[in-house]
Amino acid sequence: MNYLAPSILSADFAALGEAVTLVEAAGAPFIHVDVMDGHFVPNITIGAPVAKSLRKHIKGVMDVHLMIENPDQYLQDFKDAGADIVTVHYEASRHIHRTLQTIRSLGMKSGLSLNPGTPVEVIECLLDEIDMVLIMSVNPGFGGQSFIPYALEKVKTVKELAKKHNKELLIQVDGGVGLHNVKEVVEAGANVVVAGSAVFGAEDVTKAVQEFIALMNE
Ligand code: DX5
Ligand code: ZN
Repeated sequence: MNYLAPSILSADFAALGEAVTLVEAAGAPFIHVDVMDGHFVPNITIGAPVAKSLRKHIKGVMDVHLMIENPDQYLQDFKDAGADIVTVHYEASRHIHRTLQTIRSLGMKSGLSLNPGTPVEVIECLLDEIDMVLIMSVNPGFGGQSFIPYALEKVKTVKELAKKHNKELLIQVDGGVGLHNVKEVVEAGANVVVAGSAVFGAEDVTKAVQEFIALMNE
């Protein structure tokens, strides 16, 4: 089974509850919440209070992607907000191993994200602490950017590592994924696919979600 995670970054921020309800009704199992601090990435979005309000509308998995510096400082807040998965960036934590351990000790699934410029090999010594690897296929900060093809090579490497070390590992790809390339992304080994503009920018959001899910599970 492969999972679609619509990113609310491309939804109307004044109507997030409705956005979540719409994509969940169409079959999306994860809701991807992009948190940006204006330091780690050049954009600011939402924080734990909004995530907490949103939780009341999310029936499935709340998948929080922290694009922030000092993530350790906010892990408890996202636990309290009801996050199921918290993903932190390799590049954002001085002691990433400890950060991942803390996420799990709070009772959440731990995700590790790598920017396009970070080699995939760095995950090897962290695999025991990770439930999900997020391969960024754009430089984080904005929706609607173009997919960086080299991300597919990184996904294939993660898939190989997962076969050896953790068959349950979730492999997520985020950025520039649309109906035109989602099959390639899944074939490379991704089992969780984030899509923002391709879902919320579509004329018919329900239809877009359904088409994604069909292509991902053919
Ligand atoms: C980018 C975010 C993504 C973003 C993807 O920094 O992490 O989750 O919403 O948007 P699209 O699918 O439009 O590239
Ligand atoms: Zn994201």
